[in-house]
Amino acid sequence: MPSKVLIAGAGGQLGRALQSVLVDCELAPRTRGELDISDLDAVRAAIEQVRPELVINAAAYNAVDAAETDAEGAYAGNALGPRNLALATAAAGIPLLHVSTDYVFDGRATRPYHEFDPPNPRTVYGNSKLAGEKAVRDLNPRHYIVRTAWLYCADGQNFANTILRLGGERDEVRVVSDQYGSPTYVPHLAAGIAQLLPSRAFGTYHIVNGGAASWYDFAVALFEARGLTTPVIPVSTADFPRPAERPRYSVLGTLQQPRIELPDWREGVREFAAAKPADER
Ligand SMILES: NC(=O)c1ccc[n+]([C@@H]2O[C@H](COP(=O)([O-])OP(=O)(O)OC[C@H]3O[C@@H](n4cnc5c(N)ncnc54)[C@H](OP(=O)(O)O)[C@@H]3O)[C@@H](O)[C@H]2O)c1
Repeated sequence: MPSKVLIAGAGGQLGRALQSVLVDCELAPRTRGELDISDLDAVRAAIEQVRPELVINAAAYNAVDAAETDAEGAYAGNALGPRNLALATAAAGIPLLHVSTDYVFDGRATRPYHEFDPPNPRTVYGNSKLAGEKAVRDLNPRHYIVRTAWLYCADGQNFANTILRLGGERDEVRVVSDQYGSPTYVPHLAAGIAQLLPSRAFGTYHIVNGGAASWYDFAVALFEARGLTTPVIPVSTADFPRPAERPRYSVLGTLQQPRIELPDWREGVREFAAAKPADER
């Protein structure tokens, strides 16, 4: 295990969870206010100052719909940022763990995507994340690229917290039932990343909770786990037009070694439901 780790994007969902999990490492967490990864000089200065043995990039521009009209912002966070980190880590001779997304795939598959399937993003967000992956691969051979999906945890802006809030406010909620993916509980992802780090087996990994769910399945499971009786009505993608096209099927599977497998997604929902929401602590 690396003894000193710099975490960029430390204020986000994954950035915070990693700090709870990597308890055996000396951590240098940097929020966006402390380190903007789209600033090459700042990235170089942070790595020179901290002298980490590994950098984890948990920072990203995640506004999938806004990205359609803000390509500059999306590419600054998702392509230039990882490129800067890859350049600086390569110069320092240390590995970089970078996090990417199921949205690099087009969603036309009928079985889970594995690490060797060709990406084909359909959105500005997906293209910007793929550009970030490519920069990391090209510029620092000692990289882990971890693709994950549908992240949620107690503290964070995510589908789970939004749908539970709506379920408390409305008589019924309508949720898309024809898009399938891998809902992933952030503390499980952080544990999977911690498991990967000592391997020094560089490459691309899919790390998600097991199984597959539609957004509708996910919402129903969340309501059941929290004891909410508000009806959940299945609707189709066509009923919910969004600026950015969503993959119809972006379930992630893995062929990689070491194989990092997380519990079934329903176990993530159970643990999430048992954890106290941030505003009730
Ligand atoms: N969330 C999902 O459902 C999902 C799905 C698939 C893959 N992923 C990937 O998983 C990783 C972690 O996602 P997450 O859900 O933890 O994201 P998150 O909660 O949105 O956190 C991302 C963090 O990055 C920061 N950030 C944005 N631009 C930055 C920059 N230029 N320099 C430094 N920090 C910057 C953000 O700060 P501000 O809040 O101040 O902007 C935020 O604190 C990302 O790579 C993401 O693309 C996420």
